Amino acid sequence: MSDIEEIKSRLSIVDIVGERVTLKKAGRNFKGLCPFHTEKTPSFIVSPDRQTFHCFGCGKGGSIFDFVMLFDHVDFPEALETLAERAGVKLERRPTDTPEAKLRQKILEVNHLTSEYYHYLLTKHKVGEHARRYLKGRGVSDKSIETFSLGYSPNDWDGLSTYLRKKGYEDRLLETAGLVIPGSRGVYDRFRGRVMFTLKDHRGNVVGFSGRVFDPPSHNASEGQVQAKYINTSETPVYIKGKVLYALDVTKDAIQKANEVIVMEGELDVISSFQAGISNVVAIKGSAVTEDHARLLRRFTERLVFALDSDLAGDAAARRGIEIAEKNGFDMRVVTMPSGKDPDEAARENPGLLKKAVKDAAPIYDYFLSSAVKRFDVATSFGKKKISEEFLPVLAKIENPIVLGHYVRELATMLSLSEDSVQDALTKLRSSKGRSLTEAAPDLPGEAKLTRLERAELYLLSLVLQGKTVKLFEDLCIAIPLTNFHYLPVKAITERLGKFLPDHKTFLAKDFADTLPPELLPVFDQAFLWDISSFLEDDERFSREWGKATYEVKRLGLRGRMEDIAAKLHDSTLTNDQYSTLQEEMRELTTALSSLEKGR
Ligand code: CTP
Ligand code: MN
Repeated sequence: MSDIEEIKSRLSIVDIVGERVTLKKAGRNFKGLCPFHTEKTPSFIVSPDRQTFHCFGCGKGGSIFDFVMLFDHVDFPEALETLAERAGVKLERRPTDTPEAKLRQKILEVNHLTSEYYHYLLTKHKVGEHARRYLKGRGVSDKSIETFSLGYSPNDWDGLSTYLRKKGYEDRLLETAGLVIPGSRGVYDRFRGRVMFTLKDHRGNVVGFSGRVFDPPSHNASEGQVQAKYINTSETPVYIKGKVLYALDVTKDAIQKANEVIVMEGELDVISSFQAGISNVVAIKGSAVTEDHARLLRRFTERLVFALDSDLAGDAAARRGIEIAEKNGFDMRVVTMPSGKDPDEAARENPGLLKKAVKDAAPIYDYFLSSAVKRFDVATSFGKKKISEEFLPVLAKIENPIVLGHYVRELATMLSLSEDSVQDALTKLRSSKGRSLTEAAPDLPGEAKLTRLERAELYLLSLVLQGKTVKLFEDLCIAIPLTNFHYLPVKAITERLGKFLPDHKTFLAKDFADTLPPELLPVFDQAFLWDISSFLEDDERFSREWGKATYEVKRLGLRGRMEDIAAKLHDSTLTNDQYSTLQEEMRELTTALSSLEKGR
């Protein structure tokens, strides 16, 4: 028996949860008020049979380990240790003993040395002089260069690799760590002639690097070519893009103390703000908030303030990030930056003004509303329709009736409508969840006139994109030949997904969306934003939905083809041969359909 199974068999989830939450027996299960969201009637269920918990209010659920991780704000290894001690289980294979853990340790070690090497070149060596000047010009202090372990990567092909080889590290390790790139004549350094930002996890382990070009442009071999402004470490065993929050290792105490985190776009925004005395900050590095980000931040605070350059409400990926943060129970606000500056500029020009802007951050719902009003014309009926389409789904998620009432009034006033009509639209939106494709499939965002088959295919794509994409895509290919998709945008997106996945270890929707032509993006967004949050984390329900959805697509697909053939059979100009071919095809489809329906 593994340690985990041993612990599970010795402890009862009812005891562990019961110590922290008041539970009442309810049939075979226990019921209580959910500790992960605010509620008045209990929807938090603990099942002694399955040794799991699940909240039907906020969707959180899982094993005894998941519970401790969520409740104590710790990660898996920490929860494992706590529960092992409680169960009196001596951990056989400490998590640090596995070959994977050893490799990760090795990478962290070589990353650490690399960070020191870059830092030394920036601060002490002649080659780092123009980078020093650049940072000085951008107002980065010497102290910040220390605090954030900034560095400079020399402008040659093997500065770092030569240094690390001398220290006894093999090229293969450096490659796995993402520090070098294999070329035709051996490996060469990934980062050349750049200001280096050391990326650390919240414990201070060096997980990767970001290198920024700077002026005057470094004259290296790629002269003439446009260089990417930033190069980041590729995904490695210790660097997963959606997990890192820049500077959290430095700022986590300030975040906890302020009970607030200010989320910014880039490294330099964070550094400048930090220098200006705003220290409860992190950067998401130009991406959107992920589930991992949200969970990690939730350990330190429950208030999240966005100070980004872009319009959150108009950006699908950012909206998804907000939904994730919402699900994790964050109170969210949005800063309106003084005269459209980014935090870096604002902090350097007028720190007082930036502080005030942060203090005056608007609640996220106000922000959504005013953003919609800015983008659409309230005077026209089209504008009103767009604004309500965008804002009503946001309203529908508000649980507190007082807050909800407030925004219903706001929206009504804004659109010069009666409160009743806004309330009606909201009620309709909420109840429309009843007549969906499957019990859990909620309504599509936006308006779409789709056939049942098109809708079913879109829903299936939505499950692939929001679930464990890599695995689900394989399952999808087995279940349904991609060429069989009827709805052309879904077909095109799945085909592109098939080309995209082999090159990416983990699936990041934003990166994939970047590869799509603009005409596919609305359909991609429909699939990606389809609200399936109620069962996304629940493996069992998810796989039930998956079964139903694939069945539906197959069945409707077969029926569609049969109808096509039936129509053709009526054609009087058919030759005998054509007629019998069609009949044969019809027989095959009929057999396929009946065996599909029997297999149900
Ligand atoms: N970023 C990235 N890759 C790029 C561009 C940006 O990873 N090609 C990330 C970086 O983390 C960067 C953040 O997105 O810090 C914000 O981008 P931007 O504002 O363009 O970078 P800055 O260095 O702040 O540039 P500027 O001096 O123009 O404000
Ligand atoms: Mn910037």
